[in-house]
Amino acid sequence: MSLPKYVPGNPRSLNNFFSPTSWMISDPERFVSLIREASRLVEGGIYFGDNLFTWARNNSLFDDLAFREAWERNIVNDADRAVAWRRYFLATMAYHAVQLPGDFVECGVYAGTGVKTVADYLGGKDFPKTFWAYDTYDYNPVEGHAFDGQQPGFYDLVQKRFEGYANVRLVRGLIPDSFAGHSPEAIAYLHIDLNNADAEIATLEHLFDRVVPGGVVIFDDYEWANMYRPQKLAEDAWLDARRYRVSPLPTGQGFVIKRPPAA
Ligand SMILES: C[S@@+](CC[C@H](N)C(=O)[O-])C[C@H]1O[C@@H](n2cnc3c(N)ncnc32)[C@H](O)[C@@H]1O
Repeated sequence: MSLPKYVPGNPRSLNNFFSPTSWMISDPERFVSLIREASRLVEGGIYFGDNLFTWARNNSLFDDLAFREAWERNIVNDADRAVAWRRYFLATMAYHAVQLPGDFVECGVYAGTGVKTVADYLGGKDFPKTFWAYDTYDYNPVEGHAFDGQQPGFYDLVQKRFEGYANVRLVRGLIPDSFAGHSPEAIAYLHIDLNNADAEIATLEHLFDRVVPGGVVIFDDYEWANMYRPQKLAEDAWLDARRYRVSPLPTGQGFVIKRPPAA
């Protein structure tokens, strides 16, 4: 298995990132102009985008050249650019998980950018694990959540994106029914991004027990509030019953690491 090469960061370089794409803002133009002004009052090492404004950070994602290349190569819209930090969390979790037994799974794939960024970081067409990618693709079953292009024919476009990626399996259909007959026995990396509590809990019901000790479960929406809050509330209760606490991240994600079964 070939892991991305470690290249030491330059002690003198400072990574700044400024993307105008964030969400849930009443006046985005004014907001961006205020952040531009605020940026002049803080030290460098700024990350702005995806509802984050931080400064005096290393922004390690941009030091990792293999990640930078994988992320940039797969950007298809403004959101993909803004969520760079979220993607780097996936990439580093994948770096850990690829060295464990078990397959990779993403539930809620949309255009495949998350799956492809991770696969490209870890070998591209030679990505060494089976990567199961579940979505309805041609439509979005969550009311009010359809993304650009989700219409008949969309699945074919996503499939084209993965031409030559022999280990990526796109499974088209409604979760959890689509797991039947098309799901792995052992999972090292489980990324859940379905934008609705019922389907995410159904995913946990079907797949959580198959995650291997040391394997990771990542919730894309866990720490997002407002319309996303029901997901966190449902997941907290489900995981509390199994003695797990989700670690929330400023990116809006959350994660748990699977323990070995109790003796
Ligand atoms: C936010 S998008 C996923 C984005 C993707 N993870 C990425 O990194 O770019 C959510 C996706 O979940 C899919 N989805 C929601 N509920 C589903 C269900 N019950 N079964 C299958 N797919 C579902 C939608 O079709 C949509 O494409």
